[in-house]
Amino acid sequence: KILIVDFGSQVTQLIARRVREEGVYSEIVPFQKAEAAFAEMKPKAVILSGGPASVLDDNAPSAPMAILEAGVPVLGICYGEQTLAKQLGGTVEAGHHREFGRAQIEITDDCALFDGVWQKGGKYDVWMSHGDRVTKLPDGFRAVAQAPGSPISVIADDTRKFYAMQFHPEVVHTPDGAKLLRNFVRKVAGLTGDWTMRAFREEAIDKIRAQVGSGKVICGLSGGVDSAVAAVLIHEAIGDQLTCVFVDHGLLRKDEGKTVVDLFRHHYNIPLVHVDASETFLGALKGVTDPEQKRKTIGKLFIDVFEAEARRVGGADFLAQGTLYPDVIESVSFTGGPSVTIKSHHNVGGLPARMNMKLVEPLRELFKDEVRALGRELGLPDVFVGRHPFPGPGLAIRCPGEITEEKLEILRNADAVYIDQIRKAGLYDDIWQAFAVLLPVRTVGVMGDGRTYDYVVGLRAVTSTDGMTADFYPFDMAFLGATATRIINEVKGVNRVVYDVTSKPPGTIEWE
Ligand code: XMP
Repeated sequence: KILIVDFGSQVTQLIARRVREEGVYSEIVPFQKAEAAFAEMKPKAVILSGGPASVLDDNAPSAPMAILEAGVPVLGICYGEQTLAKQLGGTVEAGHHREFGRAQIEITDDCALFDGVWQKGGKYDVWMSHGDRVTKLPDGFRAVAQAPGSPISVIADDTRKFYAMQFHPEVVHTPDGAKLLRNFVRKVAGLTGDWTMRAFREEAIDKIRAQVGSGKVICGLSGGVDSAVAAVLIHEAIGDQLTCVFVDHGLLRKDEGKTVVDLFRHHYNIPLVHVDASETFLGALKGVTDPEQKRKTIGKLFIDVFEAEARRVGGADFLAQGTLYPDVIESVSFTGGPSVTIKSHHNVGGLPARMNMKLVEPLRELFKDEVRALGRELGLPDVFVGRHPFPGPGLAIRCPGEITEEKLEILRNADAVYIDQIRKAGLYDDIWQAFAVLLPVRTVGVMGDGRTYDYVVGLRAVTSTDGMTADFYPFDMAFLGATATRIINEVKGVNRVVYDVTSKPPGTIEWE
């Protein structure tokens, strides 16, 4: 086990993720609770995260001395390095120039962290985000790397097995970062990776039972993977103390509602309330064309309908949500600057405050691919677990302009043909998200001997690791041509198909 002491960095969860990837269990605790957690958990190693504070501030957060004196290996990252250095007798000063983003460090000496990864004399790319820097080494330490903005960039004390670095090894922008963390976990701490998703499942079940006790839980299903995995996990923990509510807003993909109902009622035997609210939603969306207005209308109505159903079910103490880690950080930019709302995602916030319920969020620490692995572990069918992400507002934001039942029907059919083509070509799992968009214009075409005047379908497919940035998928032209032909032949109301070749940024993945 590894204990991660959190000083508030926005990427602390990424450290936990990298450790999990090495097959080692880790737990994140805020620095204020670190001493008690350390005593209870008896970890084999400790990682000190980055954080927004400066060790030069009064009352700056620090690592408990009990941890530093316990004889376990410690890795300090960014703020973690600075506090480690300061607490052990080194000096930290405000940097004369701050370093944010990509930087190069030069390796000036060997150390266990660099084994098989970085060579003495080599220069390597890393990701920095700091203002202060270490200027005098604490006793027992050597400097083993330097950077332009921080001459003492990586420090090592091989006797105590203390290592610390100014940059962030946990982010993908430090290309070798995962290997450095692996060296810490495997070589320095001597841990072997035998922790798996099965262990996560068992621990999560224990935690849910401890949190919920004999209380009742209500869970909103969206049709997507995240809420389904959360629900199945919670059901395994507390059985029929859980009730699922599936608000079908009529903006789902073809056959999606049916799949969810079958899966829950028949495959898992989990109590499910299926609310067909499509008329209410489409009614409220009549005449609405502005994308933000659509999102707000759907978000608000969703809460109203869900709340009414919850009241009918009666007396739930907890609300379960399939919130993932990226949902938590979505609107917060990595470099910490004030971030603007590009789109108001409606799946987090709102509901819990209004309903005055406690939250059960068993997936809060996980990333999408880890949730998929957990879903498979729980026996969810592969085709369901592997499905592309789908936005809360559904097809409403894939139908620019006013939404009508007729347009939704065209869109559903075109989308189904497109996805079928992708599955048949064996490309589905290489793509992060693929979907059709129905444009609010008609264009002229010719079919048989007649003139047509029909809608245009836009096809979108992107690769991405987290949805934050994305590239368009490079289909070959023969595939696109064949897909266009099938859509036009099989979907009434469409006579033209275009492919979207915009990356994100500057585009977003969805069209609205
Ligand atoms: P964008 O379009 O912002 O999408 O590049 C990034 C990812 O988020 C999904 N998305 C949403 N998910 N509620 C959601 O639950 C929303 O309102 C929403 N808007 C976009 C989108 O499908 C992509 O995976």
